[in-house]
Parts: sequence; C-alpha cells; structure tokens
Amino acid sequence: MLILGIETSCDETAAAVVEDGRRILSNIVSSQVEVHSRYGGIVPELASREHLRNILPVVDDALTGSGRRLTEMDAVAVTCGPGLIGALLVGVSAAKALAYCAGVPLVGVNHIEGHLSAIFLESDEVAYPFVLLVVSGGHTHLYLVRSCCNYEKLGQTRDDAAGEAYDKVAKLLGLGYPGGPLVDSLARQGNPIAISFPRSYLEPGTFDFSFSGLKTAVLTHVRGLKGEMPTGKALADICASFQAAVVDVLVKKTMQASEATGVRSIVIAGGVAANGALRDGLKVAADASGRRLFLPSPALCTDNAAMVAAAGYNLLMAGRTSGLDLNPQPNLPLEGK
Ligand code: KG4
Ligand code: ZN
Repeated sequence: MLILGIETSCDETAAAVVEDGRRILSNIVSSQVEVHSRYGGIVPELASREHLRNILPVVDDALTGSGRRLTEMDAVAVTCGPGLIGALLVGVSAAKALAYCAGVPLVGVNHIEGHLSAIFLESDEVAYPFVLLVVSGGHTHLYLVRSCCNYEKLGQTRDDAAGEAYDKVAKLLGLGYPGGPLVDSLARQGNPIAISFPRSYLEPGTFDFSFSGLKTAVLTHVRGLKGEMPTGKALADICASFQAAVVDVLVKKTMQASEATGVRSIVIAGGVAANGALRDGLKVAADASGRRLFLPSPALCTDNAAMVAAAGYNLLMAGRTSGLDLNPQPNLPLEGK
C-alpha cells in the first residue's frame, strides 16, 4: 500500500512516499528557514507563499525519488491541522487535487498524530498502549495512547511550548532562528549547573507544564549582566543551564505519567525530541526504571511528510478517510476521537 504524504502546517514544505506505513521510499523536506530567519521567527504570510511556490516541485521530487507515479498511490495523506491556516490550506488544496486526479482516498491527518507516527517508520516493536510526550514549537503535551485514534490527554503546557521557549530564549540571547538546535549545540560546551534556573512542576499530581517563568528567569539573568551580551563560556553556561531546567521537567513529568497510568512504554515525538540532552535524560530515566523508550531518529522528529504518510496509513486501515470537502483547522484538537 503506497501513501503520498504532504506536510505544510508550518515552515517546511514536505512530501514523502511511504509503503505500508513503514518503509520510506522518499522523504523530501524543503525548509523555509532562510526566508524567516531574517525576521527572527515565522512570518505566516511568507510561509504560505513559499509553500505555494514549493509544493508541486516537492511532490514531484518525492514521486521521482520513490520511483513510483501518482497513479500508483493508494491514498494521499495530508496534515489538516493544527498549524498556520494559510500554510495548511496550500497542502490540503494540493492533496485534494492530487487525490482527485489519482482517483484515490484523501486522508486528513492531525499534525500531532503525524509526529507520533514517526516511530512506526523505525520500530516494529512499539505497541499500544504507550505514554506519548509531544514536544514541538507549538505543543508540549502528554497523552495516553490506547490504540490508533484513541488519545487521552494527560496534560499540556499552560503557556509556552518547549520549542517556543527554546526559540524565545535563543532570540533574547541574540542567537537567531530557529533557536532549538542552536541552544542545543551551544549547551554541549556549557555547564548545566552553572546557573540555577527554576523548574516549574506546578501543583502536585498535574501533568501540565509551564515554561514562561523559566524564560523570564533567563531574561532577568541576562539583564543582570548590565548590557553586556553573554558570549563564549558565559553564553554556553546559560544555554546548558536553561536546557537542564527544561529537560528535568520534561523527563520527570513523563516518568510520572508512565507511573500514574501503569503504562511502561514511552514514545517521544516533535522537533524538541531531536534535542541531545532530552534524549539522554529520557534514556537514563527509562533505563533506571525498566521502562521501554521509543525515540524517532532526529531527522524524523522535526516536521516531515513521511510521518504524515505513516499516520495516513494507520487511519486508512482504520477506515478513517476524509471527503474532498476537508477543511484545514488551525486549532484542530487531537482529543475526542
Ligand atoms: O515539530 P517541529 O519541527 O515543528 C512544530 O510542529 O512546531 O518543531 C520545531 C521546534 C522549534 O521550536 C525548534 O526550535 C525545536 O523544535 N527544535 C529543537 C531542536 N530541534 C528543533 N529544540 C531543541 N533542541 C533541538 N535539537
Ligand atoms: Zn511539527
């Protein structure tokens, strides 16, 4: 079964062909980082225009790279939310036209469902139920996933998403956009206990998160340097100490969610799951408590269309296709299925 996946929810135009929800035949990601970096963040209107310009060449590349034709596809899967409305519209419109031309079903995929499906591309061993931590630019959510399409939200961020916190801290440190990978690499040369930034665990028993206080603490620390922007070791120490505070909270809450639900398999997804310290911290905690941890490789953590095709396959198998009247929804929830 061949699925053409399409992803345009944010600032990557991506298309992929995946066989049986597992084998990646092609996976093309066209990044818009250069367009947005000069503005220090994503400009939605520019994102839509870039998607419009790139979508058909990217789909062409994905088909060519897979060695298959559009008419050989069994379905077209597309991210239909959450995301930037103009950006989503480009992918959904293209997917509708392609599905119609090929005479195959259209499958609307929730972006989070896409992220979590990355793990199926690399592991035959992941089995339901599992605890899912989604950490991206827009989400920091914990779910209990009982089966395909059965999600129970355990908690979520009350303010900034983890990736958003990385991006904002990078910006205030003058590092550029996107901040996550830049902070990640600087942190490797820094001391994670150099500065004691706050860990916000919120009230006992909650699986919610909050990162805005941490961001403010970094800002206060930088202001305390009296106008001198940190460089070298001082900058690396701030990055490492900030990162340690983020990782401590994410790891602890994820382990607590596993303990509270009695579910011992843990899946991590989303752009921040590419973070070296988070991956190491989760591995140590999972090993120490005998839990099974499933981490997609870093390239499949950030936005891509292979994960959308993998999710589309699972939805297709569950009979959950969409009509050609599918509308993108910027705030599409995952729950309630
Ligand atoms: O999943 P993703 O590609 O797009 C969204 O759905 O948001 O995640 C992007 C986010 C950005 O905030 C980016 O800074 C962050 O993931 N990110 C990282 C790393 N790579 C990407 N954060 C920390 N460390 C990384 N290595
Ligand atoms: Zn994403």
